Parts: sequence; C-alpha cells; structure tokens
Amino acid sequence: MKAQIIIAAAVPLLLASGVALSAAYALPEERVITLPPGPGADLATAHCAACHSLDYLTTQPPGLGEKKWASTISKMVDVYGADIPAQDRATIAAYLNRVVGTR
Ligand code: HEC
Repeated sequence: MKAQIIIAAAVPLLLASGVALSAAYALPEERVITLPPGPGADLATAHCAACHSLDYLTTQPPGLGEKKWASTISKMVDVYGADIPAQDRATIAAYLNRVVGTR
C-alpha cells in the first residue's frame, strides 16, 4: 500500500520535471516544405511525404539524372514498403530530375 502511494506521488513529479526540461530547449520553428510547381509535383507531394519530410528530396544534389531518381523511388517501394503505383513512378522521377537543385 505504501509503495502505491509513493508511486502515485512520484508520477506527477516526474511529469512535471519532464515538462520543465522540454521547456528549456528553444526548438526551431517547423518548416513546411513545398515542391516547385510542375507536372508530377502533386504526385511527388502525395507519395513522398508519407514517411519523411520532402526535404529528403529537395536537399539531394542537382543533376542526379532520371535513372538515379527512378532507382531511389524503387528503393522506397522495395526496401521501405512505399505504396507508389508503377505508372506514377516514372512521372515522379522525371519531375524530380527536372526540379531538384533548381532553387
Ligand atoms: C514507406 C515509407 C517511405 C516513402 C513513402 C518514401 N520514402 Fe524515402 N525514405 C524512406 C526511408 C525509411 C528512408 C531512409 C531514412 C533514413 O535513412 O533516415 C528514406 C530516404 C529517402 C532519401 C534519402 C536518400 C536515400 O536513398 O536513402 C530520398 C532521396 C528519398 N527517401 C526519396 C523518396 C521519394 C522521392 C519518395 C516518393 C517517390 C519517397 N522517398 C517515399 C521511406 C520512405
């Protein structure tokens, strides 16, 4: 019984110290990444932001080539289980090859 009382008293204390700790960090504001407009932009936004930020795409170096993009997209599907219909993959690869590194 005593142990229960001690735990009941300790939990709010732990929670309170957690709140105090997280308040000590000044976190950067969350950025919303948008892709440049163009054919394929909507498909890339819909399919590629499901698991990670779109800045995984926009921070890749320019000039990777459409083949490299196609193989990255295949990796997302085959290795990580992304659900991207086959007919959309080439459109996204062509789009990313065109826009990544242009801004
Ligand atoms: C099912 C989840 C999922 C989806 C959907 C997804 N990715 Fe990824 N992606 C990952 C994971 C997991 C990683 C590796 C994360 C890490 O290493 O931090 C990754 C990493 C990446 C990287 C970093 C380089 C690399 O090869 O690891 C790029 C570029 C990338 N993804 C592009 C895309 C593009 C383009 C799309 C849309 C066509 C997409 N991702 C959709 C899961 C996904």
